[in-house]
Amino acid sequence: MLLGGLVYATAGLSFSALTAAASTPKVLSLSFSRRETFTPHPRLNRRGASVTATLYNAQSNLLYLVNATVGTPPQSFSLQLDTGSSDIWLPWVEAQACRGRNGINRCGNGAFDDTQSSTFVEQIPDLFEISYVDQTQIVGDYIADVFSIGDVSVVNMTMGLAKQTSEPETSGEFQGIVGVGFDQGESIYSQVGRTYPNLISKLKSQKYINTRAYSLWLNDLESTTGSILFGGIDTAKYTGDLTILPIQPDAISKSITSFTVVLDNIAVIGGAKKAQYAKALDIPVILDSGTTLTYLPNDIAMDIISGVGAVNNSRYGVVVPCDLAASPATFNFQFGNSDGPTIVATIGQFVLPFPSKISPPRFRSGKTACRWGILPAQGAPNLFGDTFLRSAYVVYNIDGGTVGIAQTKFNVSSSSVKEITDSGKIPGATKTASGEAKQTHTGAVASAVV
Ligand SMILES: *[C@@H]1O[C@H](CO)[C@@H](O)[C@H](O)[C@H]1NC(C)=O
Ligand SMILES: *[C@@H]1O[C@H](CO)[C@@H](O)[C@H](O)[C@H]1NC(C)=O
Ligand SMILES: *[C@@H]1O[C@H](CO)[C@@H](O)[C@H](O)[C@H]1NC(C)=O
Ligand SMILES: *[C@@H]1O[C@H](CO)[C@@H](O)[C@H](O)[C@H]1NC(C)=O
Repeated sequence: MLLGGLVYATAGLSFSALTAAASTPKVLSLSFSRRETFTPHPRLNRRGASVTATLYNAQSNLLYLVNATVGTPPQSFSLQLDTGSSDIWLPWVEAQACRGRNGINRCGNGAFDDTQSSTFVEQIPDLFEISYVDQTQIVGDYIADVFSIGDVSVVNMTMGLAKQTSEPETSGEFQGIVGVGFDQGESIYSQVGRTYPNLISKLKSQKYINTRAYSLWLNDLESTTGSILFGGIDTAKYTGDLTILPIQPDAISKSITSFTVVLDNIAVIGGAKKAQYAKALDIPVILDSGTTLTYLPNDIAMDIISGVGAVNNSRYGVVVPCDLAASPATFNFQFGNSDGPTIVATIGQFVLPFPSKISPPRFRSGKTACRWGILPAQGAPNLFGDTFLRSAYVVYNIDGGTVGIAQTKFNVSSSSVKEITDSGKIPGATKTASGEAKQTHTGAVASAVV
């Protein structure tokens, strides 16, 4: 029933502005940068689920952030882009975490000063609430103000203003989020059963886009930029055709609250194109850009962890030798059904270097250790986070209740944008892969930045 997510960023950020694509109206393209960030203390950031995960004291987080401004005159923010939640929330400038007591100001990516905005509106005091499975709680107000990304301004945007956090001052960055999920994924929906128009809904009602849909291209692990395209697709950024996957509703409420699709099977293909591991699954998985890693059912994740020779270190978590990234092995994920689309991810996409500012742990052999990007879900929802999503071009079609998916193309600089004018029809997507799996999880999901 909870949502939000805390992330910790210490590195500088840079983003390019949102620009309306010249050739096609009603499409907004926004580039974002990915930055290595560092969490100095153990944290568990999965929301809305009873998860236990290894707590690390040294972590490399690779977050996708976008620049935005709020208020009049504009106040600047870098916010984490999250498909797994649906609210925008901002740290409040007067929150303890932002006041810099003991010399620690954790709000370097932006904190909102309501007294300095002439367009600020207090909506509902104290109702905004985010909780974490590690008992961290954040509470605040619902507010409304002008929210701008690039040269696009949304008026009367409802947001959470985070006033209090129970977490210690020694935690990392107190980081705001922009959730781009379903209105039903808003935290207020689980509290009072109603919704407000979130960012995607406002972009449509203010006619910046025709359909509540957007495409996400994260590019590869080595790259520091990716892009989100609101209202369209960019056919230059993927190979083959997009295939439609119906979004699976929550089994209890029957409504769609998350980007849950069916994973039909996983195969690990070795050097000589030989299958080294294959597992039929037919399970629900949530596509969540706000989650750094990928979380699979425990037995499968443990098979994979032992299969790649990863070790669970008490200090650094699940690690592999970094040179595993050079292996020709691939992870092939097939969605929908046995005729569905297969996304091929090279093993290197799951091998994450530790942040450069800490001296990297080493194996006894002398090999440098890297973090491993597939972990057990521990009974929580299966999440396909950034370690998977970089290999896929994904169209998140909220109005159509579908996802379009294709194999991504890394490092393309060209672009061929097509507007989505009809939510029932993603341009160029001709095939639909059926397949059903029960999603028993309701509401917003984890933003697992571990
Ligand atoms: C994004 O914001 C950060 C922090 O204010 C700034 O350093 C960076 O230049 C901005 N990027 C762009 C493209 O505006
Ligand atoms: C602002 O948005 C809220 C929530 O969507 C709505 O109830 C209210 O009527 C809007 N106010 C104006 C002035 O449009
Ligand atoms: C993409 O570009 C980065 C450098 O920005 C490079 O390290 C990486 O190998 C490239 N990926 C591919 C698949 O060519
Ligand atoms: C790693 O070990 C910790 C205990 O140190 C445990 O809680 C965690 O579940 C283990 N993770 C895996 C993937 O084995």
